Amino acid sequence: MPDRPRTVAVVLAGGIGVRVGLGIPKQLIKIAGKAIVEHTVEALSASPLVDEIIIMMNAASLSELDHLLSADRFPKLSRILPGGPTRSDTTQLALAAIDGDDTKVLLHDAVRPFIDQRIISDCVQALDRFDAVDTAIASADTIIRIDGDGRIADIPDRSTLRRGQTPQAFRLATIRRAYELASADPDFHATDDCGVVFRYLPEVPIHVVDGTAENMKVTEPIDVHIADKLFQLQSASLALDTRPESLPDLTGKVVVVFGGSYGIGASIVVQAQNAGATVREFSRSTTGTDVTSAKQVRTALRRVADELGRVDVVVVTAGVLKVAPLAETTKRDLRLTIETNLTAPAMICRAAYPHLRSSGGQIILFTSSSYTRGRAGYSTYSATKAGVVNLTQALSEEWAAEGIRINCINPQRTHTPMRTAAFGEEPADTLLDAEDVARVTLNVAASDLTGQIVTVQVAAMRR
Ligand code: CTP
Repeated sequence: MPDRPRTVAVVLAGGIGVRVGLGIPKQLIKIAGKAIVEHTVEALSASPLVDEIIIMMNAASLSELDHLLSADRFPKLSRILPGGPTRSDTTQLALAAIDGDDTKVLLHDAVRPFIDQRIISDCVQALDRFDAVDTAIASADTIIRIDGDGRIADIPDRSTLRRGQTPQAFRLATIRRAYELASADPDFHATDDCGVVFRYLPEVPIHVVDGTAENMKVTEPIDVHIADKLFQLQSASLALDTRPESLPDLTGKVVVVFGGSYGIGASIVVQAQNAGATVREFSRSTTGTDVTSAKQVRTALRRVADELGRVDVVVVTAGVLKVAPLAETTKRDLRLTIETNLTAPAMICRAAYPHLRSSGGQIILFTSSSYTRGRAGYSTYSATKAGVVNLTQALSEEWAAEGIRINCINPQRTHTPMRTAAFGEEPADTLLDAEDVARVTLNVAASDLTGQIVTVQVAAMRR
């Protein structure tokens, strides 16, 4: 046992999320392939300062999180208990389930999945000096107080105002005592736990730790989109942090690349071999494999599985880019673009599924920056690349429970023969190297990310 007070993190997930309005408790909404509450537990669990985690779950959906307790995913997660009708009720049920006056308790909203390690350690360490700790950030907006008629009653000085977040952290005896006093008050009402200490134990100083803008609470429908984007940004930086030279160790892994004869695919073949993987490459020019043929894709994968016993990573870089206004595009080119760029990835995913289910493996697809907004001159290409992103997100959810991951690389402006053929020679320092993109791709292959669109930018690579 550590020679220090225990730290228990309580994940408050007793609410419904009426304001998000999706018909399921918002903490169960899947982002990047996992429920929001799961991301939150992951972050808390990663802290060496947290000894135990308890989830207080909405009673009607209690069993939805059972799978987190099974297996050895979160050894620190000890219990999932039913929450109460209000947030304060949920907190009090949690306090009743924890022992030891000295115990450090972190109460954290399940729907703040972007809590970072710095906030956790600041809170836990502040409890060596204080019995109560809040997390808050400055307000960019001016905050006004209104009267009963909706008119401005006061405009407090913004520099003294903060927006409260969580965790709120306490020594167990202090928060228990505050709630005991509150229970004797018929007018008791609270939206957070520091407020209870502030009101009923005014002599206890409450220290304030800096929060972050990312530590937002998923509250309104738009927050789901913002959270989705934040996860994408996070995963992109994760991939880039691991550069420049470092390749992950892929020893013992079998990597299959569709479209690996030139450009990014060829670099991935070489770098995956450098990383220790056994690599098999299929393309029209090298093996005569047509990725738009379901049968040929199936055969290719089966051959690899027969030969090497497994398939761990499938990378699809095959793609075509024909630049022409739609009205001047031939029917043949239109069909070729859609079949190669969208139908083929979907079919490869389908064919790879049984192999990746056995290995707990991953598919990596490729999109382009035109996925967020279609570009004149290559409308159908843009449309297929948006489709690939949707495919990635949807399959990450379909496959999450089976441990299959799927991610999508969004390489911006990469120096490849396909790009040069479409756009001619461009200034070299504005283009990514295929090698850089390959390294990021393999770092993603080695990560446990899923459902992510990882953008690789020239500026980020040349920093
Ligand atoms: N919470 C809780 N028990 C409750 C109500 C809320 O543990 N009875 C938790 C929520 O699950 C959430 C956090 O407190 O993680 C913050 O609350 P809020 O954002 O208000 O969540 P909801 O009550 O779920 O949202 P809404 O008010 O839109 O229904």
